[in-house]
Amino acid sequence: MKQATFAILATAALVSAQAQPWAQCGGSGWTGPTTCVSGWTCVYSNDWYSQCIQSSGGSGTTTTVTTKTTTKSTTTKTTTKATTTTTAGSGSGGTGLTTVVPASAGSTTLPSAKVISGVWDGGMLKYDRNPKVCAEQTETGEADAMFILESGATIRNVIIGPNQAEGIHCRGPCTVENVWWLDVCEDAITIKQSSGNSYITGGGAFKASDKVAQFNGRGTLTIKNFYVNDYGKVVRSCGNCSGNGGPRNIVIDNIIATSGGVLCGINTNYGDTCKISNSCQNSGKYCDRYTGNSSGAEPTKIGSGPDGTYCTTTNVRTSC
Ligand SMILES: *[C@@H]1O[C@H](CO)[C@@H](O)[C@H](O)[C@H]1NC(C)=O
Ligand SMILES: *[C@@H]1O[C@H](CO)[C@@H](O)[C@H](O)[C@H]1NC(C)=O
Repeated sequence: MKQATFAILATAALVSAQAQPWAQCGGSGWTGPTTCVSGWTCVYSNDWYSQCIQSSGGSGTTTTVTTKTTTKSTTTKTTTKATTTTTAGSGSGGTGLTTVVPASAGSTTLPSAKVISGVWDGGMLKYDRNPKVCAEQTETGEADAMFILESGATIRNVIIGPNQAEGIHCRGPCTVENVWWLDVCEDAITIKQSSGNSYITGGGAFKASDKVAQFNGRGTLTIKNFYVNDYGKVVRSCGNCSGNGGPRNIVIDNIIATSGGVLCGINTNYGDTCKISNSCQNSGKYCDRYTGNSSGAEPTKIGSGPDGTYCTTTNVRTSC
């Protein structure tokens, strides 16, 4: 027994000098290990981030299956894609979600943003602006939104087309249920509540070259059962809004985020938090941490990844 214990400790010590599966292994300012444990390769993602990815044969038809309790010796390969499910990283987060846009019940256009109070059901119609207002990343304002939600409003079951600029603006706490953005322009939703809770549940957003949710107010934003594909950031706590401050608390639970950048951008100097659970992200980073600025200057980025205080992750897998 003594011998067995010793062997395990020795292995643990050896492994800790190398980055673990799916962990960061490089990037500007990174001081941790730059090589990965056996069977994993450090792969450049961008100048700020490299990650340990499972080494594979590289064939397009090879799927690598890793069991949850894995050590490198339990990794097996199979050549039939159709019959395999891939579970990697840790846990099984991001399940039971709709990842395709529901069929639309028809299309309609409006010349200006529609203001919503109370509960409004879009009946799965596709809404767009005509004339179109999307000017890509030129920050415009509430007037270029598709929908403006008054405090306490709920919007549900709607598809937002590509010809609007600002998606949904919530003037106060709001609930956004089963809303789909086909092609996010400047951002998909802006949260302006001075306190309280806003919820985005169900639905999804595609092609957010910058942000999905811009969190400019205070309080808590929960994103749950949501699908994001091709994005810069899922949520950004405002870096340099006038009168900036916090805290802004972000809760991300059971989402799938594919082909994108960062789940949360938070300002730790304002006490912002981001709690990510039961989710799947197949590229990029969980969090970018910044020092926000209140006098209009660009915020300073101070780090990336979970720090256990401001950014935490539970049951997040990296192959979705
Ligand atoms: C905000 O930016 C200004 C101008 O660069 C700087 O003087 C100030 O210290 C910054 N504040 C914070 C909190 O970083
Ligand atoms: C924040 O920075 C952006 C880009 O540098 C700038 O366009 C914007 O005016 C700033 N915001 C404020 C409130 O000063």
